[in-house]
Amino acid sequence: MSKPIYVLGGPNLNLLGTREPEIYGRETLEDIHNRLKELAGDIPVEARQTNFEGELVSWIQEAAREASAVILNAGAYTHTSVALYDALRACKVPVIEVHLSNPAAREAFRQVNYVSPAVKASIAGLGAYGYELALMAAKALSGK
Ligand code: DQA
Repeated sequence: MSKPIYVLGGPNLNLLGTREPEIYGRETLEDIHNRLKELAGDIPVEARQTNFEGELVSWIQEAAREASAVILNAGAYTHTSVALYDALRACKVPVIEVHLSNPAAREAFRQVNYVSPAVKASIAGLGAYGYELALMAAKALSGK
């Protein structure tokens, strides 16, 4: 059995579908996770979301041991979390950062990013489609 691809989501992503749909779209996180599981075929997908920074850090540590690749949307922790940066630096499996919106084109506080410097690649501004692209990349990077 191959190692799973972890799909990890940070704070407020549980509100997708109703949260500022003009920015984040109308699909729920469950919709996105279900589509990734379909597209992944026989590769297991471990999809989780948390509103807690420490939990996200622990999941990245777990993924470093258990996953073949990680797709990460850290939500607002992207812009604040040194703990996340440190966990990602220690994680030797490929991590692909995803954002539904393009933070670089938004408020000034979203220009700060603690995730991008510590990951393999970043995809932003393509809505839920960004997750599909990240899955393709995760498969390629993990040699599947
Ligand atoms: C987000 C962008 C972040 O700036 C924001 O805090 C989010 C969602 C995105 O997917 O566009 O919660 O990560």
